[in-house]
Amino acid sequence: MFNYNMKFLSYLFTLIFLAEVSYSDEKILALGDKEYGQHLSGECVTCHKANSNKGIPSINGYDKDVFVTVMLAYKNKEMENPVMQMIAGRLDNEQIASLALYFNTLK
Ligand code: HEC
Repeated sequence: MFNYNMKFLSYLFTLIFLAEVSYSDEKILALGDKEYGQHLSGECVTCHKANSNKGIPSINGYDKDVFVTVMLAYKNKEMENPVMQMIAGRLDNEQIASLALYFNTLK
């Protein structure tokens, strides 16, 4: 009985957590503008090319929800790369959303 309840509770919390994450990504993405993203992308494409080079991954066609999550993780220093931490640290939610929409459209 106890075990069953714990399992059910952790399942419920996982669901709530996932729903909250995707809801907040959605709210952030709603702030974005693709054209603004294109304008901002100049800095990114000095490193991020259409094909991965020298250990720098391509971000063309990147999933836009994952993009927001990853950029916020760099910004909050939950992901390690110091260059990306600095770059993401300067971007606000509107700029991150715009970049997410823009890079998502690239092949
Ligand atoms: C000086 C080079 C450089 C610049 C400029 C740069 N990045 Fe990065 N970026 C990197 C490197 C290196 C990594 C891989 C880090 C790692 O492997 O942990 C990365 C990783 C990423 C990732 C995660 C990719 C993955 O594989 O999950 C995203 C998203 C990203 N960058 C977006 C951006 C955006 C948006 C910009 C412009 C605002 C930008 N980057 C500018 C070097 C750069």
